[in-house]
Amino acid sequence: MCGVFGYVGARDPLQVCLTGLSALEYRGYDSTGIAGISQGKISFCKKAGKLSELKKVLSFPPLELAIAHTRWATHGKVNDQNAHPHFDASHSIAVIHNGIIENFSALREELLREKALLASETDTEIVAHLIAKYYKGDLVRALHSAMQRLKGAFSLLVIHKDHPGELVATARDCPLSVALDAVRTEGIVSSDPNVFFGTNFDVIFLKASEIACVRKGSVDVVDSELRKITKKSERIAGSFTVPSKEGFEHYMLKEIYEQPITIQKAFLGRYARGVSFEELSLQDAVFRNTSKICIIGCGTSSHAGSIGALFLEEFAGVFTSCEIASEARYRPLLLSPDTLVIAISQSGETADTLAALHEAKKRGCTTLGLCNVKNSALVREADGALLLQAGPEMSVCSTKAFTSQLTTLFLFSLFMGQIKKTLTQERLLLLQEELKTIPAQIEQVINRAPEIQRLAKKYARHENFFFMGRRYMFPTCLEAALKLKEISYVNANGYPAGELKHGPIALLDAHFPVIAFCANRQTEEKILSNVMEVKARGAPVLAIASDHFKQIQKAADDVFYIPDSSDSLAPFASTVVGQLFAYYIAKERGCEIDQPRNLAKSVTVE
Ligand code: M6R
Repeated sequence: MCGVFGYVGARDPLQVCLTGLSALEYRGYDSTGIAGISQGKISFCKKAGKLSELKKVLSFPPLELAIAHTRWATHGKVNDQNAHPHFDASHSIAVIHNGIIENFSALREELLREKALLASETDTEIVAHLIAKYYKGDLVRALHSAMQRLKGAFSLLVIHKDHPGELVATARDCPLSVALDAVRTEGIVSSDPNVFFGTNFDVIFLKASEIACVRKGSVDVVDSELRKITKKSERIAGSFTVPSKEGFEHYMLKEIYEQPITIQKAFLGRYARGVSFEELSLQDAVFRNTSKICIIGCGTSSHAGSIGALFLEEFAGVFTSCEIASEARYRPLLLSPDTLVIAISQSGETADTLAALHEAKKRGCTTLGLCNVKNSALVREADGALLLQAGPEMSVCSTKAFTSQLTTLFLFSLFMGQIKKTLTQERLLLLQEELKTIPAQIEQVINRAPEIQRLAKKYARHENFFFMGRRYMFPTCLEAALKLKEISYVNANGYPAGELKHGPIALLDAHFPVIAFCANRQTEEKILSNVMEVKARGAPVLAIASDHFKQIQKAADDVFYIPDSSDSLAPFASTVVGQLFAYYIAKERGCEIDQPRNLAKSVTVE
């Protein structure tokens, strides 16, 4: 997770790095820090907490270049000492880092035996000491020697007081990009290839322990054997602007309200009399020959994948499973060459999803990425990619990306249904027409936000919640439960409603409310029985149900009705209710909504 950023060039390095930090803060906000070179010395400033804390203590002489870091803690507590940058004993070298040095304990012991004085508990500081140990005047060589000792997936950015014009960067299985401006007056290093500020940049992506020495307007790269290499660059517009809440109190609320538009963006231009994806580079034959689909993702993206698996089974008749990426990669039979692997990720940088994608490629599977970020590792590395087009999602708690993932998966399953000939033209058109009504349905739910806020107020004092649903409503309830835990810090378990009586019902009493997701016609009678069962144990019940399902009113304490739809499309409106419910509970409990504790938007460590 952590954001790594560095600047050398004509502009003020401190100001560019501060802008870089604010744009990268989504990657972690446990602490921030900056180091730069001024008159042959390294100056630095670092502070636990968000960037706003660093800004309060910031003081630097004019800098020749600078590196900047925003941390999501892995090794060592959240405090000033463990904030990056880290240094060698003589303060000649400063290092910032993203990822994990897996053999850190052994290296730390080795350095302590050699009487090294370590100022922090981090794995990063070990790297600074190792580079110093190998340094004989050439920073690239010293970093290369240190790299031979390091295990794990990580990126590093290093400066040395005697090299005031050089940023030395490396990455192993971890995103790091280097950009040179079009007129070659500056060099930027960033964890995120979309975070460069200026006009146009030529960007290279470091991989496989390559090391780049970045100067004003030039870059030299060596491979893992120290051989000079030429890397192909991509022209990327550096028009990044720090997004705004546009009058909303939180990004999360803004992004919930954007959904009628973002869903349309995900489907517009992708269907007429059938579904097609302009950007899809894979041939139809690949899909025709697919006999099994495995969807992989983490968190919210995996919940979208679970609903996508139901779409694919219903519309394309292909056996589809959705697996948590960090587990899928270790299951050999899951990823066989006849499998189409669909990797879903909002950021396109989630380490577990990328690791599973690499494993799938090694095993000969065709891979398709579903992603919101166009220059991300997922889009670059999958055989084909479908973009969500939801625009930047700033709140750590994912909302609009989820409904765009659902929209794209729904369309993709219709596309597969066309290819596999499991859908008649008539049914295909009906489904497309129904998808068109979803933005308006969501608008209706959003217009009733005050009702959801009242319900949230009523339930906000509880510390434990049960979420239950059947069929399409099961992954929907998992997603709603995740929203609640993530931003309200209350215990919220999602369960298939039929499983309650196999154990979890023992937890229920008057202090343990159940949120029942009921908008699945096929299983209405069953969920009604489940609601009666939990009511019989004294648990308060809030049901989210389709408009026509009035019987539920007699069983549940509260009901929020959503517009009627077919089962496959009910996750949309139900989800928005869950998002608003979590938002208002978090607000009621005074939680920090956009940047919840312990989390980061982009999870780049496994
Ligand atoms: O960028 P990704 O979609 O790969 O991220 C996966 C999860 O880390 C993410 O969905 C996470 O669960 C969200 N914070 C949930 O709101």
